[in-house]
Amino acid sequence: MSTEQQSEAPAEGDEGPVASGNDTLTVTDNRTGRSYELPIEDDTIKALDLRQIKVHEEDFGMMAFDPAFTNTASCRSAITYIDGEAGILEHRGIPIEQLCEHSTFLEVSYLLVFGELPTRPQLEAWVHDVTIHTFVHEDIKKFLSGFRYDAHPMGMLLASTGALSTFYPDANKILDPIERYLATIRLIAKMPTLAAFSYRHNMGQPYVYPDNDLSYPENFLSMMFKMTETKYEPDPRLAKAIDVLFILHADHEQNCSTSAVRGVGSSDVDPYSAVAAGIAALYGRLHGGANEAVLQMLRRIESVDNIPSFLDAVKKREEKLMGFGHRVYKNYDPRARIIKSHADEVFEATEYNPLVELATELEKQALDDDFFTSRKLYPNVDFYSGIIYEALKIPPGMFTVIFAIARTAGWIAQWLEMTDDPDKKISRPRQIYTGAREANYIPLGERTGEDRISGPATRPS
Ligand code: SDX
Repeated sequence: MSTEQQSEAPAEGDEGPVASGNDTLTVTDNRTGRSYELPIEDDTIKALDLRQIKVHEEDFGMMAFDPAFTNTASCRSAITYIDGEAGILEHRGIPIEQLCEHSTFLEVSYLLVFGELPTRPQLEAWVHDVTIHTFVHEDIKKFLSGFRYDAHPMGMLLASTGALSTFYPDANKILDPIERYLATIRLIAKMPTLAAFSYRHNMGQPYVYPDNDLSYPENFLSMMFKMTETKYEPDPRLAKAIDVLFILHADHEQNCSTSAVRGVGSSDVDPYSAVAAGIAALYGRLHGGANEAVLQMLRRIESVDNIPSFLDAVKKREEKLMGFGHRVYKNYDPRARIIKSHADEVFEATEYNPLVELATELEKQALDDDFFTSRKLYPNVDFYSGIIYEALKIPPGMFTVIFAIARTAGWIAQWLEMTDDPDKKISRPRQIYTGAREANYIPLGERTGEDRISGPATRPS
């Protein structure tokens, strides 16, 4: 535990310490009395600069210890800006509220990838290229048919996205501008197709091929829900709602899944494999899987009368309030606010979902409770999204899949930025070793250890 001296709060009217213009950090190692000047850049110090701090010359040198990287910048990025305290989210500087009001998901994906809004000809070319790449190789269908009927669609999406790398072997030419563009287009274009095919496999229904007359969100709805009609007629209100949800989930700086894409991508693997790693990370219930977990939680609470006892269980750490809390937002997630504002439009086009009342009351009682506000736990993007997906007749297993469709734009934009980053190196953290040293091999007959079939994992009896 650091024993930092808390500096006295500046006196009334005192502006506190004034920048001296000397952008260095002086640290004194009290074990040796030696002081070190560490350069400060972008309000950070380079962790590698700590290595000079040693007690003995032969020591490895000091490292920073930051499990889960709660206070470590892994890269420089210009794609997404988040101010967690103020609840601000911007993509290439444009506030998410403006993008949801004026833009489309495909235009936002262009913005994320190329860094500026497209001109009309650029947008038309981009939309055309995505539209004509929505088909997947027919062999993917054989691949998907190997899954059990009840396989989780995230598992099928993870596997089929990784499999795409085998259909495009030139994607490993990661610095070839044409291969990079093709991989970018293919991933954005094919993710809805793979997602919808996974859903249709679960339902035991025939696959619906992409319809190039439809927009990106309309085509996704068609591939999901078209039955015997010759042409799927999407409800424009639902297509708009899905497109806004795609925009809201498109990118979120260095979250768990994006860090996975960057980490795996740093080995120079192809982008399909790197994005598959992102899907695997997003699958987790603490990350993208939270929207599905929110619905399960609301179903378990069942009635407004049960909210106080549920919140008591959360305070006793017997439950987690899924859809609440965030590593960065210590205020209301701006995306949750926008999703909530769109809920009414969706419910106009569908039947009302009674879970909305339960969720709204749960949010109210939680935000009236010091346990949550003192920990700065507010609704995040997952708290209301599941309720809307359910109103759109999308089953819970598909909620995170929809998140993955949208986040593919962010993942590929971050992958492109990472591969061009002059600081790029293969990701390989260090560790603090806590295990045994210089042990000897014990012959089998001499081992007297207890029946160690438990510990980090337990052998089923
Ligand atoms: C996403 O990173 C991103 O940008 C992610 C995302 C994106 O767009 O990519 O925004 C998408 O993943 C949103 C988050 C979805 N996950 C959930 O809704 C799951 C529930 N939330 C928690 O698991 C948690 O809030 C996290 C994982 C989101 C954040 O965890 P942190 O930053 O590690 O926070 P923490 O666990 O250190 O919590 C601080 C305190 C702790 O209390 P104390 O032990 O200090 O007393 O708050 C408590 C936690 O116990 N806490 C919760 C809680 N979240 C944190 N208590 C109850 N319910 C919760 N949901």
